[in-house]
Amino acid sequence: MSDGRGSAVRDGDLRSKLDHLTLSRKEGFKRLVDAPQRVPPDQLSRRQLRLLGSEARADYDQRRRTWHANLGPLRTPQMEALLEDLWDIVDSNDQEGDKAKGGIAIDAFPGLGKTTAALAFARQFHRREIQEHGEYTDTGHERWPVCRVGLTSNTGMRDFNRAILEFYGHPGRFRGTAADFGYRALDCALSCEAKLLVVDDLHFLRWKNSNGIEVSNHFKYIANEFPVTLLLIGVGLQARGLFDEGESYEDAALAQTGRRTTPLNMQPFTIDSEEGRRDWRNTLLAIEQRVVLAEKSAGMLADELSDYLFARSTGHIGSLMTLINRGCQRAVRTGVERLSPELLDKVKNDAAAEKARRELESAFASGRLTSRLGKRVA
Ligand SMILES: Nc1ncnc2c1ncn2[C@@H]1O[C@H](COP(=O)(O)OP(=O)(O)OP(=O)(O)O)[C@@H](O)[C@H]1O
Ligand SMILES: [Mg+2]
Repeated sequence: MSDGRGSAVRDGDLRSKLDHLTLSRKEGFKRLVDAPQRVPPDQLSRRQLRLLGSEARADYDQRRRTWHANLGPLRTPQMEALLEDLWDIVDSNDQEGDKAKGGIAIDAFPGLGKTTAALAFARQFHRREIQEHGEYTDTGHERWPVCRVGLTSNTGMRDFNRAILEFYGHPGRFRGTAADFGYRALDCALSCEAKLLVVDDLHFLRWKNSNGIEVSNHFKYIANEFPVTLLLIGVGLQARGLFDEGESYEDAALAQTGRRTTPLNMQPFTIDSEEGRRDWRNTLLAIEQRVVLAEKSAGMLADELSDYLFARSTGHIGSLMTLINRGCQRAVRTGVERLSPELLDKVKNDAAAEKARRELESAFASGRLTSRLGKRVA
């Protein structure tokens, strides 16, 4: 028999394997769903800034810090397209009876906005379901249309099932086998009338053998037993064999997952077509509108910094937003109050973006490449 301390230690251990977002719990998820839209700080001119008393100025700068640190999510074309696909698939799964539902796998490189887009969808979906069906189910349970699980470092199947229980705060989440946890998770999903199970960072799941049969079988079980649409998110899922058809008899399970799962992708911005350059420009314009700096001018990002920002982010939304966020923090702190190459040169960005930067910069400098609309390349 283990004592209470033992299970507390194991609980702590599990927590370290789940991500640190409060979203691991349904209450945290609800907070995200109900969060009101942030109100931007007023756009003040240099002169108005000077007129602020020191307390008002400190308050204004503090609000700008938080604002710039949370500029998203923007409705980028990539996100719009993904949301449309998600609605198509999730709504088409609203069939009655015992049909296994088609799953979804968002498989794309890091920093392209997979989590951001999936959460935006989950939030809208939760709201719609509650609006249409009410906060409680017919049997009097709280309705939780979405269950979200985020994985970190080498999570096994048992931990995975337990993470679902963790989301619901189920009292039976401390002790049991993988199967026990699985049954309890199913129970929760049924009584809360869950319709969407989001599994983020699936690549952290322990893939026992290289071709992922165990993983595949498990999701097949969920797809068959749970009345939910599975939304899997990860990096390199295809390379891990999630959609493989397989050749042998044992591989048949993989083939089944492959057949039932629709892969969706997210791409970085590209500037090799006029359409791509238009998307890039519109995104910069949208960010520009949100930036609250006293010396901001029209076209500061979309015209003056277009090539520069592309070179530094290689069109990855994650790298772009990091750079803008840090740049704005510096512009406020140092009193420069605008974004320029000189200021942004001092701002560090992620390693992958920095690595690709040099090559792009030389292509822009020689005129071989442009990110701007209607401009001819040399
Ligand atoms: N549509 C968007 N608008 C504004 N910012 C965004 C948008 N999409 C992503 N970002 C920002 O980019 C960063 C990376 O996004 P996100 O975490 O969603 O990427 P990811 O594809 O899930 O990456 P990973 O594979 O590392 O989990 C985040 O800081 C996020 O705030
Ligand atoms: Mg993510």
